Amino acid sequence: MGILNKIKTKFDEKYGNNENYHSLSVILPYFKPYLKRTFLALGLAIPIGALDAVIALALKPYMDIVMMDKHMQSAWYLPILIVVFTTVQGGLNYLATYMNDWVGGKVTNDLKITLYSKLMRQAPGFFEKQTSGKILKAYNNDAEKSCSGLLSNMKTCISRFFSSLSLVGVLFYNSWKLAIIAVAVLTCAMIPLVKIKSAIKDVYNRSEGENAKVLTTYNEAFSGNKVISGYNLYDFKENQFKKLVNTVFGLKMKITQHVSWLSPLMHIIVSIGIALVIGLGSYFIVKGELSAGQFVSFITALIMLYTPIKGLGNNAKNISTCLCAMERVVSKLEKIPAIKDSEGAINFPDFKDKIEFKDIKFSYVKGKRVLNGISLEVKKGETIAFVGNSGGGKTTLVNLLPRFYNVKNGDLTFDGISVNSIKVDSLRQNVAVVFQDNFLFEGTIRENIAIGNLNASEDEIWQAVQQSYLEEFVNSLDNGLDTQIGERGMLLSGGQKQRIGIARAFLKNAPILVLDEATSALDNQSEHIVQQAIENLMKDRTVFVIAHRLTTIQNADRIAVINHGNLTELGTHEELMNIPDGEYKKLYQMQFNH
Ligand SMILES: Nc1ncnc2c1ncn2[C@@H]1O[C@H](COP(=O)(O)OP(=O)(O)OP(=O)(O)O)[C@@H](O)[C@H]1O
Ligand SMILES: [Mg+2]
Repeated sequence: MGILNKIKTKFDEKYGNNENYHSLSVILPYFKPYLKRTFLALGLAIPIGALDAVIALALKPYMDIVMMDKHMQSAWYLPILIVVFTTVQGGLNYLATYMNDWVGGKVTNDLKITLYSKLMRQAPGFFEKQTSGKILKAYNNDAEKSCSGLLSNMKTCISRFFSSLSLVGVLFYNSWKLAIIAVAVLTCAMIPLVKIKSAIKDVYNRSEGENAKVLTTYNEAFSGNKVISGYNLYDFKENQFKKLVNTVFGLKMKITQHVSWLSPLMHIIVSIGIALVIGLGSYFIVKGELSAGQFVSFITALIMLYTPIKGLGNNAKNISTCLCAMERVVSKLEKIPAIKDSEGAINFPDFKDKIEFKDIKFSYVKGKRVLNGISLEVKKGETIAFVGNSGGGKTTLVNLLPRFYNVKNGDLTFDGISVNSIKVDSLRQNVAVVFQDNFLFEGTIRENIAIGNLNASEDEIWQAVQQSYLEEFVNSLDNGLDTQIGERGMLLSGGQKQRIGIARAFLKNAPILVLDEATSALDNQSEHIVQQAIENLMKDRTVFVIAHRLTTIQNADRIAVINHGNLTELGTHEELMNIPDGEYKKLYQMQFNH
């Protein structure tokens, strides 16, 4: 076992339950690949700080030799020395800042990549409880603060600490008696710094939460601008925003309240120290215990000491906020996705026979059942259409097929194998989903279709384009498949967006297809084209379709009526139409006016 590991084990035993220690033990490994540079960046801060003492130190011989003895020759080197040391200090400072930004940037990148990858793997249920602002803050801003921010603050902290240490050395070098007084006073000034983190932690976390809401509001001004304009929500939204920024302001002022008294307090304590030293110093000079050079050098060091020590206060506050950010990042890193491979999970079987829903009960929120025990068997190659009341549970039921949610009560099996014992990636490889509202990514039409199969050839992409009836549209564009479609496909019509969703599924070519038909009505012609594209897609697959179109229902092999979480009727169109007072018959007559 390496010495580092030994130390770590010792620390684990001692501080295992301490929040800060735990966060650090999770984040520090991210620094491991850049350890040498991290040490260099932090190590350089030592001479940078320590060189602060040179000027104060140089003043003693300067005063004693030049001012008192009026002796120039032996002090000619002093001005040059000061310039040389300051230049060296400047050079080191540049190097340390560069190193620091480099290491901080690299570690932040690595952390962000891990966080992003974790974020994507969270189950849909996780995102339902989040807002875009919260995610941005936690996964992007906090990551930056807890790496780059922490490192640069540590660098400054180290240089300030060593600056203080070397200046204290100058104090002792000149007069140990005065130095003891000065150090005692400065220690008093430092005490409140230790208390800051716990004082601001809650307020700080709340303020971050409110800031996240501000980000979400901006996001909504963007994505919801049509609703805002259409309903004239300008004043309403503005008022909401006003409240939000005022809350943020209030919290910010609370932090200021907690933190800002530190600076003036330290100022006062330090000035008491200086006053004491000047008084006593004068006495020592008169008694001949102290030379003028020593006294001037001492006072200069003491005044210079004030800057790094006061800075340490700010540093302590910044490091506290960085540690708060780190705690949040660590909680994100440790968040286990609700949906993950179970132990010994296997690849999706070579699908041959049937898919079975076995007495599935499901609820999103405890105590509020959405599915009340649904049992259904679907043969390979069959198309089953789901109809039923809005909110009845159709989407919920089909969302279980790609395991967007876990089946905890009852079971869903593919050729007899439970969904929970199949590897999630391999399951999803075999289930293509065309959503009610297909999300389009910023980029080109080609990129948006190709996500169905990132290794697809140009020919395969064009085939998908043809089968989803997009060819004519694509050919009419100047840039064809390489046309940019704007964020979320804003530059496309509803029908075009749906067909891009269908083309993706074509390219994926999975044996099982889940289709949540769009409810929004298209004009007759687009409707017809989308319908044809869907029919093409359904060929030779096992299809679960939530049907809103008459033709889809008629083309299905069987129809399942899901009402209020129950499977109430199941059979062919004719069979269901023959049930007197049947639910399907009613729905059919109502919806399609027959
Ligand atoms: N993510 C969720 N969290 C909590 N409740 C949800 C969630 N999604 C759906 N529900 C609730 O579950 C019930 C079933 O919703 P589901 O979307 O499955 O209905 P649906 O049959 O697809 O309806 P529609 O025909 O209107 O699309 C509804 O009462 C809905 O409010
Ligand atoms: Mg639905």
